[in-house]
Amino acid sequence: MYSDKVMDHFTNPRNVGELEAAADVGVGLVGNAKCGDIMKVFLKIDDGIVTDAKFKTFGCGAAVATSSMATEMVKGHTLREALQITNKAVAEALDGLPPIKVHCSLLAEQALHAALWDYAEKNGIEIEGLESPAADLEELERLGEEE
Ligand code: FES
Repeated sequence: MYSDKVMDHFTNPRNVGELEAAADVGVGLVGNAKCGDIMKVFLKIDDGIVTDAKFKTFGCGAAVATSSMATEMVKGHTLREALQITNKAVAEALDGLPPIKVHCSLLAEQALHAALWDYAEKNGIEIEGLESPAADLEELERLGEEE
């Protein structure tokens, strides 16, 4: 059902953890109302380049694998390039996901965007093409604490 790469990133996830709150760290928190899974992504940005990425995911195996791959893919890229990392690109890098698990990769894309949005807001900049994350962050924080 899962590719070797998905299994590898699930059993040995890269970049698990947090980055300390700072002006140069964007934090994105997103959740899927249907399955209740939550993903938090931290991006450290220096001179417009993502220099570090971490994540914490309270969710299914595919959500863990996609967060792991998405945080690997985003490092070393500019803000605009980071925005181009779609759920499709993440799923392809993992050699595919079963159709029922595609929404999990969407969570990874949304978490990246939310972290970029947070960074842009903190630093008073605009990233062309980036839209405001729709999630109710306070509600997600509360759910995250209950985990
Ligand atoms: Fe919810 Fe995978 S089942 S993110």
